[in-house]
Amino acid sequence: MTQRPAPYVLDPAARDADAEHELLRARGSATRIDILGVEAWSVTDPVLLKALLTSPHVSKDARRHWPGFDDAVRTWPLALWVAATNMFTAYGGDHRRLRRIVAPAFSARRVAALRPTVEGIVERLLDGMEAAAPGDVTDVRELFAYPLPIAVIGTLLGVPDGRAGEFRGLVNDVFATTLTPEEAAANTEQLYAMLDALVAAKRADPGEDMASVLIALGEEGADGRTLTEEELRDTLLLMINAGYETTVNLIDQAVTTLLTRPGQLAHVREGRASWADVVEETLRHSPPVKHLPLRYAVTDIPLPDGRTIAEGEAILASYAAANRHPGWHDDPDVFDVTRITKEHLAFGHGIHFCLGAALARMEAEIALGAFFGRFPDAELAPEGGDMRPVPSLISNGHRSLPVRLRP
Ligand code: HEM
Repeated sequence: MTQRPAPYVLDPAARDADAEHELLRARGSATRIDILGVEAWSVTDPVLLKALLTSPHVSKDARRHWPGFDDAVRTWPLALWVAATNMFTAYGGDHRRLRRIVAPAFSARRVAALRPTVEGIVERLLDGMEAAAPGDVTDVRELFAYPLPIAVIGTLLGVPDGRAGEFRGLVNDVFATTLTPEEAAANTEQLYAMLDALVAAKRADPGEDMASVLIALGEEGADGRTLTEEELRDTLLLMINAGYETTVNLIDQAVTTLLTRPGQLAHVREGRASWADVVEETLRHSPPVKHLPLRYAVTDIPLPDGRTIAEGEAILASYAAANRHPGWHDDPDVFDVTRITKEHLAFGHGIHFCLGAALARMEAEIALGAFFGRFPDAELAPEGGDMRPVPSLISNGHRSLPVRLRP
């Protein structure tokens, strides 16, 4: 057997993600990495990545297809990413069943019906920010990018007003990759306690919301019971996790990019590009999710270069690195809202393609149009906050987004 080179150890704090992604691409279409002590294949070539994402020989079900599962659950800070039982970690028929239950809530019609709600939330948030005096520095991530998706997902799920924000710190820590296993386990415990409280409250007082609908599907004795108690809780967990941090990062990255590249904002203002173009180019250039843990080879998978991903080995979808692959886009590191082709993998690809993509796009388009309409002279104020990247290999945003709304 040939000796494998040592895996490249990813920086848990992702201090210089762009440089790290370049290095991963230079090591080949797929390369061995170590993510917080777990070895996996990081795939950065979009052609190979798409092939793996649509292959029936690649699973997200760690219980069934990953020999590392038991160890990871005990000692890996990202245990929750592989141990929860919902569509995100399901394979085959289980995945189809779990996705089908929730999918109708994200149809084009249902998303379009949410537009007035999103517009209302955006206006209310901007009204709140308007109070800032000229020259004041406002943290736009904290006061705008965060509360919007939190309010939207709260409305969708039926989390009572004012309680949705309670999940916020806990969700942040699901995406953090600098916690010890003990800290991560304590966070998971608190998150489940909050979900249990939500389920209990909805059981006692059901509404028309998604949480109530899912609870009804999971009731003992209900006709054609389709969700176990564990799946119910973990599906709510997924909706809350997926709906928060990702959309926050999209708005954060788009605002940051436009404030640092006035020429790009001018393209929109002068009609050469739309807000939808800004959203797509942001998703390509600075996707909210950098790496997505984890997938597993169900059988040996031969790679085009002669190597093999062996059965049971883990695969990391390195979406941010793939989006800037030089074989895919010209000048991939350049943010250009007028690019004809802005294809990306920010929402994944294949059967696990993000269920909330249309909702996230709508939220971001409305948010950006309204923000730059209300504050046309907004300026970035880096000295007034901490713009370092959040310490995460998954989440791709800034710790804060300091802006002078009215210089
Ligand atoms: C899955 C990205 C917003 C719900 C995913 C995946 C990614 C992703 C990368 C995993 C694909 C894979 O398996 O490799 C994003 C981004 C968002 C966003 C970048 C915002 C800009 C949302 C929102 C919701 C949502 C707002 C719902 C409220 C889901 C669900 C899945 C998922 C349910 C699991 C789908 C499955 O496994 O079949 N998303 N997401 N996402 N996302 Fe999103």
